[in-house]
Amino acid sequence: MDFLLSKKLLLIVTGGVAAYKSPEIVRKLRSAGADVRVAMTSAAQEFVTELTFQAVSGQDVFTSLFVGETDSGMGHIELARWADAIIVAPASADFISQIATGQAKDLASTICLASTSPILLAPAMNQQMWKNLATQANIKKLKQRGFLFNGPSSGEQACGEVGLGRLAEPETFVAVVSDMFKTNHLSGSKILITAGPTQEPIDPVRYIGNRSSGLMGYCLASVAAEMSAIVTLVSGPTALPAPKGASLIAVNTARQMFKATLRELDSKQDIFIGAAAVADYTPVKTAMNKIKKIEETITLEMKKNPDILAAVSQHPNRPFTVGFAAETENLERNAMNKMKKKELNMIAANLVGLSDQGFGSSKNELFVFYKRSKSHIPRAEKLQVARSLLNLIAKNYKASKK
Ligand code: PMT
Repeated sequence: MDFLLSKKLLLIVTGGVAAYKSPEIVRKLRSAGADVRVAMTSAAQEFVTELTFQAVSGQDVFTSLFVGETDSGMGHIELARWADAIIVAPASADFISQIATGQAKDLASTICLASTSPILLAPAMNQQMWKNLATQANIKKLKQRGFLFNGPSSGEQACGEVGLGRLAEPETFVAVVSDMFKTNHLSGSKILITAGPTQEPIDPVRYIGNRSSGLMGYCLASVAAEMSAIVTLVSGPTALPAPKGASLIAVNTARQMFKATLRELDSKQDIFIGAAAVADYTPVKTAMNKIKKIEETITLEMKKNPDILAAVSQHPNRPFTVGFAAETENLERNAMNKMKKKELNMIAANLVGLSDQGFGSSKNELFVFYKRSKSHIPRAEKLQVARSLLNLIAKNYKASKK
């Protein structure tokens, strides 16, 4: 899942032999969904060319304080404002010293001084330079000011010495940078989410299912974890990896999902979100053996499945309850009816049956209804939609507590 989707990241590359690893950092961050721009100091350009970073970022590279020298026309203040986060990798001893003393002598140091976004430093230098009291005093000062660090790691250095001072491995950056966006919006809140389809068995090899990929629910679980919630995800069969920071309970049928969900309510949940596409009906009987192709027509008798969302909202340990409504017509009217009938706090309605949103698509658009009010979350990648929906849920959940 693209945890850094649409995040704007500025990578500052300073002078050091470890700069050869920085293009790989750009690649990793981009493949996690981030929009990455690169700024280089003149010392960095002695080690890696501007062209390399242009190729891996797909963007102009910033090298000078003077806008006229770049094609993009973004000056240092715009760049500082543009970035959701700044990563300095490698951060040389000299650059660390410059920002610790608040210098603005080139583009890179000026951006750091002008930015209000979080800044992550990945130091890389000779192990004696790292140990030096002057460097350590600068690091201490920067930590006190809220600068974040990745590394350095220990090992053999380019100069032949062994010790602390190696650039953190490029693979570590996606996780470390994702953590920079963690918020406390749902800190300590327990959130239970259902996701994915259910499979209702007909015989040992066949089932009735639906087109849900589980992505909407998995994105909600990832974002809830990003907001520091304690997340449990009850999921039907999907091809998705377990979201980072969530406990996953895998089920197949609607009845299994029902049981698992109600069991989780015993340990009191604060918020429930029903994003699963639960089968409304299940075969009355599951054949013991594979049904043979003998008859011209066959009839499958079906019975109603329990309604998980309704059961959660009627439960003595009822959490703040949010439903989804998958509609092909009369979206608002049908969603409002579901909200009233199931006594929900909120409902997120999506138009389904379209190829480019809803079931099985990477995108969605939601119309959210709550307490005589409504919001529209425009069509976007599901991770972004999940961020907007969870911000709305967090706001309404907190208001319901007052
Ligand atoms: O999984 P994706 O491919 O990412 O697609 C996302 C989605 C389209 C599946 C998702 O956005 C969505 O709309 N989920 C709800 C689908 C659905 O079953 O909607 P519904 O209108 O039939 O049901 C209304 C609500 O009741 C839903 O919250 C559903 O989870 C819940 N329900 C329904 C039946 C049942 N037996 N138990 C339930 O809890």
